[in-house]
Amino acid sequence: MHHQLPRKSLGVLLVVVLSLIGCTEWTYHRLNDPSRDVWQKPQGVVEKLSIARGSRVADLGAGGGYFTWHLAKAVGARGTVYAIDIEERAINMIFKEMVTRGTPNVRPVRAEPHDPRLPEPVDLVFSCDTYHYINDRVAYFRSLASSLRPGGRVAILDFHPRRFMFSLFGHRIEKEEVRREMEDAGYLLVDDYDLIDRQHFQIFAKSDG
Ligand SMILES: C[S@@+](CC[C@H](N)C(=O)[O-])C[C@H]1O[C@@H](n2cnc3c(N)ncnc32)[C@H](O)[C@@H]1O
Repeated sequence: MHHQLPRKSLGVLLVVVLSLIGCTEWTYHRLNDPSRDVWQKPQGVVEKLSIARGSRVADLGAGGGYFTWHLAKAVGARGTVYAIDIEERAINMIFKEMVTRGTPNVRPVRAEPHDPRLPEPVDLVFSCDTYHYINDRVAYFRSLASSLRPGGRVAILDFHPRRFMFSLFGHRIEKEEVRREMEDAGYLLVDDYDLIDRQHFQIFAKSDG
């Protein structure tokens, strides 16, 4: 008997295989698709971040730069956005896009999995859909505290573990787990937004001010 997999199943299989391999350029193009704006609400997210002009911001796990360009607009010409990623493909994509867009306030940084390699302290570390990829997160964020300027904050968006397939492959995390880990790393929750259906969105500051 001849069985044919439905197109939707093939799509899901492809996404699962690519997730297991890691982020390919195809994944980054998919992440940058403008149709994502409908549910991701990037402008609403950046508004909630209350970024002052001239700020220094790190986009931790910048990927193809989906949020980087929104952050670059918010910091303005005198500010800086460090687009941080461990993948060379991501860094190359952001370099190319910088040239196309003419955004000298963006600086791509190739990180190590255990070290963001920030060139200077920043006012805000922003991270979308990356937190769950980081190993030994408590140690990572405890050490990152020394790269925050006085009053510095860490904003974390990640997916609610509602869909079985994604939870199975670890690409989801409970919001309470993020909060617990960040508190263990020496931070306090300062904002908790219910803006995006699929993701939690929490902002932390160092507990010692
Ligand atoms: C799913 S993508 C999200 C990209 C982007 N933030 C977005 O919302 O479109 C996750 C990114 O995190 C990066 N990443 C994973 N572990 C990392 C780490 N320890 N430090 C920096 N980036 C990391 C991956 O290479 C990947 O580009």
